[in-house]
Amino acid sequence: MSAKVVVIGSLNMDLVTRAPRLPKGGETLIGQSFSTVSGGKGANQAVAAARLGARVSMIGCVGSDAYGEALRGALLAEQIDCQAVSTVEGSSGVALIVVDDNSQNTIVIVPGANGELTAAAIDRFDSVIQAADVLICQLEVPDASVGHALKRGRELGKTVILNPAPASRPLPVDWYASIDYLIPNESEASALSGVSVDSLESAQAAATRLIALGAGKVIITLGAQGSLFADGQRFEHFPAPVVKAVDTTAAGDTFVGGFAAALAAGKDEVQAIRFGQVAAALSVTRAGAQPSIPALSDVQAFKTP
Ligand code: RIB
Repeated sequence: MSAKVVVIGSLNMDLVTRAPRLPKGGETLIGQSFSTVSGGKGANQAVAAARLGARVSMIGCVGSDAYGEALRGALLAEQIDCQAVSTVEGSSGVALIVVDDNSQNTIVIVPGANGELTAAAIDRFDSVIQAADVLICQLEVPDASVGHALKRGRELGKTVILNPAPASRPLPVDWYASIDYLIPNESEASALSGVSVDSLESAQAAATRLIALGAGKVIITLGAQGSLFADGQRFEHFPAPVVKAVDTTAAGDTFVGGFAAALAAGKDEVQAIRFGQVAAALSVTRAGAQPSIPALSDVQAFKTP
């Protein structure tokens, strides 16, 4: 499986603490461990697509600090093309993550260099976009840049995927016409559609609303409940493979990267959803963001327990 995916988005150094439970406001807890792990939704999706068989380019920004070098090095180690990863003066993006014994997490992001990925910076690497088949964006870089990248992907006839993460409010309505696949989780689907998503029925209602706004197709990821696909004609529920979760960080990113890699390799969307789901399921059995993302051979060898 080898095709060209371009990811336009964030790179963060994840500062990860494991604790027995998530702290309440004003509370101090004693944690069990601390680690620094390469992450960022954009970089995670790039790594996922690369490990799962695609040729990948990344467009993004890192800071002029030690984290910046490490974040770039992590992508280069996966043979990801980093000619469009710029180093800007100042701090790299960081994410402060707490993971509890139930594998749930909280994440606070400080964008740092990710905030420097402007529309003009993206335009400098238009040839990288032109060379791709599939373009993926998320929401950890400035909104104006995301809107610009989606529109450019549409103009060039690419398959355009938006993972609207993190989202806490509706998207600009003029973005929808550029999106082939919108892939939110439950809370993002709720924020985008105004429909509170807590069941398959409410996910269907939210997807219907997002397609009415102009999205081509919608895949709402539902954690352990799998995912819901909608294309305006039909809905299909894909149950998730059952696994023992250790850490759900980057599960959504692994799904998106795996889905994109499979599409770019010519699989149909049903096959691509199933492929992404197996990859995401394997990722939750391991700790950390990029270290948890499986290889293509792991996904191919996966048997439902
Ligand atoms: O989706 C997981 C990612 O969210 C982490 O790697 C963190 O950097 C934040 O961007």
